[in-house]
Amino acid sequence: MEKMAHFNREVIPERRMHAKGWGAYGKFTVTHDISKYTRAKVLQKGTVTETFTRFSTVAGERGAADCERDIRGVATKFYTSEGNWDLVGNNTPTFFIRDVHNFSDLNRAVKRDPHTGMRSAQNNWDFWTLLPECFHQITVVMSDRGIPASFRNMHFFGEHTYSLYNAKNERVWCKFHFKTEQGIKNLSNEEAAKINGMDRDYHGRDLHDAIERGDFPKWKVYIQVMTEEQARKHYENPFDITKIWRHAEYPLIEVGELELNRNPENYFAEVEQAAFTPAHVVPGIGFSPDRFLQGRLFAYGDAQRYRLGVNHNLIPVNQAKCQVNEYHRDGAMRVDGNYGRAPAYSPNSAGIWAAQPEVMEPPLELEGAMWCYDPKDDPTDDCFRAGGDLWRVLTEDKKAILISNTAGDIAPCTQNIKYRHAAHCYLADKEYGERFAKAAGLDLKEVIRLSKLSNNELNIETTKPQA
Ligand code: HEM
Repeated sequence: MEKMAHFNREVIPERRMHAKGWGAYGKFTVTHDISKYTRAKVLQKGTVTETFTRFSTVAGERGAADCERDIRGVATKFYTSEGNWDLVGNNTPTFFIRDVHNFSDLNRAVKRDPHTGMRSAQNNWDFWTLLPECFHQITVVMSDRGIPASFRNMHFFGEHTYSLYNAKNERVWCKFHFKTEQGIKNLSNEEAAKINGMDRDYHGRDLHDAIERGDFPKWKVYIQVMTEEQARKHYENPFDITKIWRHAEYPLIEVGELELNRNPENYFAEVEQAAFTPAHVVPGIGFSPDRFLQGRLFAYGDAQRYRLGVNHNLIPVNQAKCQVNEYHRDGAMRVDGNYGRAPAYSPNSAGIWAAQPEVMEPPLELEGAMWCYDPKDDPTDDCFRAGGDLWRVLTEDKKAILISNTAGDIAPCTQNIKYRHAAHCYLADKEYGERFAKAAGLDLKEVIRLSKLSNNELNIETTKPQA
């Protein structure tokens, strides 16, 4: 009876998104001096820090196949001497959307349809194309990079603008980049379909086997830095996660290297129960006015309190390797000493749980109105520049792959959605629009007419499904 009762309770909720994933331990070594930007001990030259990284797809459930066209999540926990720093990023430099309000809708659109319970290209493309800020990310996902050959063969990024502050409490804005040392390799739709038919855990197996045979994957770590002054004058919102910072203007600064070198002993204990949150930072690393990031600061811990329980930070894979004095008490599955007889309130005359003003980040001056700014028809906000720039640097064979992947993926959708996307492609680059229109069998004159409308007009004209 006990065996059955335990078995009946073995399954825990999967992550709402990024449910299918694989993890490995490693080390992060800082090879360059960036102390003028940050006082974080984990980022000081010569420091070596133990890490745990989990790779994931986004849309598929826990049993989904690895080689789907999707972005890949990459979350790394750095067990630093000042507590855990989690960098929870993706294998793309930007994201689809920039407003927290849209986040659950994005996932509902790419996941299952409420009526059929099936994935739906119509829902997916309808949502993506109604928000023009998705355009750059759509271009990346439909490109050859949409299905990596392995986790080892892709870059990854923090995506958001974070901040760094140094020993004098001087702040700069920063983006994190991890560049694969294994080289970029991708799969075509045909290769991926074949692999998915044979081995749904292909990327996990590749990572596991490489580490088992001592072929440790490595990534060079870089930052981009923007001063507060530069940010005030920047021509785009530097805190908009759908925008890139051009490398020519904000060059990559080398920091160090991440190596993955040890497989977990137990998948459930270490990978399924891993809990990452962008809210975990250490002194010297901070947040920014990116309101999408601010939404994430709440969402992860909240999801983990549901998925793993209120004491999820006590699960060994999530525990800091140094003493961390959060003063949470009690709660389900509190299986350590629960701080014994120490006072449970703060402030107290015993002088414990006292705040540490020395780890506070510098105050942030804010300006402007707090409101639901929706810049889609703002002429200074160009949602298509980065997608157009990407199109123009692609070689001819990569352009052909992008067009054929897009036409294939959008094929099941109604015409209105295809026209909406074609108008966006045309706005990004005439050639991009012309070639997509041709591949999708659309009337180019109509695409050009639609591309001249404002975003609101375009959405109204293309909201009623046509045959
Ligand atoms: C407002 C926007 C977002 C919200 C509300 C959000 C929320 C969440 C939640 C609730 C989870 C599941 C956490 C868990 O159960 O442990 C998750 C997982 C994840 N998210 Fe996000 N997310 C957002 C945007 C992003 C962005 C922009 C990135 C990349 C830069 C990202 C990367 C990831 C990754 C990699 C995971 C999987 C972590 C793991 O391996 O355990 N998310 N997200």
